[in-house]
Amino acid sequence: MLFRSTVEADLDRLLRCTVDEPISWADPDRLRSMLTDGQYRHERVWIAEQDGEILARAVWWGFPDGDKPLALDCLYVHPSVEDRVALGAALLRHAHGAFGDAPAYHVFVPSGWRDYRAVADAIEWRWEAGRRAGLTDELERLRYEWTPAAPVPEPSGRLTFEEEPDDEVFVDLFRQVAEGSLDHHTRLALLTKDPEAQAREDLADYRSMPGDRSWWRVARTPEGDLAGFAMPSANNAGPVVGYLGVLPERRGHGYVGDLLDEITRFHAGRGVQRIVADTDSTNLPMAAAFERAGYRLFAVRLVLSADPADD
Ligand SMILES: CC(C)(COP(=O)(O)OP(=O)(O)OC[C@H]1O[C@@H](n2cnc3c(N)ncnc32)[C@H](O)[C@@H]1OP(=O)(O)O)[C@@H](O)C(=O)NCCC(=O)NCCS
Repeated sequence: MLFRSTVEADLDRLLRCTVDEPISWADPDRLRSMLTDGQYRHERVWIAEQDGEILARAVWWGFPDGDKPLALDCLYVHPSVEDRVALGAALLRHAHGAFGDAPAYHVFVPSGWRDYRAVADAIEWRWEAGRRAGLTDELERLRYEWTPAAPVPEPSGRLTFEEEPDDEVFVDLFRQVAEGSLDHHTRLALLTKDPEAQAREDLADYRSMPGDRSWWRVARTPEGDLAGFAMPSANNAGPVVGYLGVLPERRGHGYVGDLLDEITRFHAGRGVQRIVADTDSTNLPMAAAFERAGYRLFAVRLVLSADPADD
């Protein structure tokens, strides 16, 4: 078996690698267009080849001007291969060796995917191959959207919202709400980072997004005490919920709903037609708040990554 990255002359054979399982994959149109715009590159497409036949193919994604692959987008192993897990794992290991890195594997699946046998099977062998190649950390991200088909919420009056120009106030809020967070990324970060440094990083990340700084709000109880904050934002694809948090001592009163409503109302008031939000499936109070507020679960993204504790 020969493991290697590909070259332009392989293109026709690469396009014939077809995944018929109901998950996201690098289909021929996607492969062709992303190879053209540089999000895929031949040196980031790897194959396992025998007697001139492609038996396995892995495709990594990266920014066109980026210097390294950032995510594995597709793992294909020909159905005739007896041990798909072993061959898939070997292919990933060869590529990881060449990259000097093991980028996370991202797969989109329909919501309720565990109940679809064909989806669960497609994930199972790929996940095992990924695990054997060092991708052991599993995460399920729920993708929600709000559209004007859902109502614009009325203010409950339980919290008041105000602009806060001082970034230090938000650093402190980020630091406080990270405590006891059910968000996977936050929990991992706090294993290795100082809470204040992490809060500053979070602030910088939100500052760098296309959403406006003036949209951010702090939330207070009628007595004037801080309860949390709401940061409507936007990414390159459009408006997003951004971030919200309830101070640990204020949790359990459903304030998450008041904060989310404030964000929805804010964007809706600007005439926005679609608001997107992601949360981890483990963040149950957050997911429940989206459901209550009429957000629709439109996709699930599964992510398998190297455990940072293994670094
Ligand atoms: C997610 C979050 C906003 C929920 O806020 P909330 O206003 O307390 O939510 P609710 O009042 O609806 O809570 C529902 C239940 O979950 C519990 N709960 C809320 N947050 C919890 C947490 N971080 N850990 C454990 N349980 C939590 C509540 O105590 C309540 O329990 P109960 O039903 O037994 O009373 C809050 O946990 C938070 O700020 N987390 C950190 C930031 C975050 O994850 N933001 C979202 C990023 S996408």
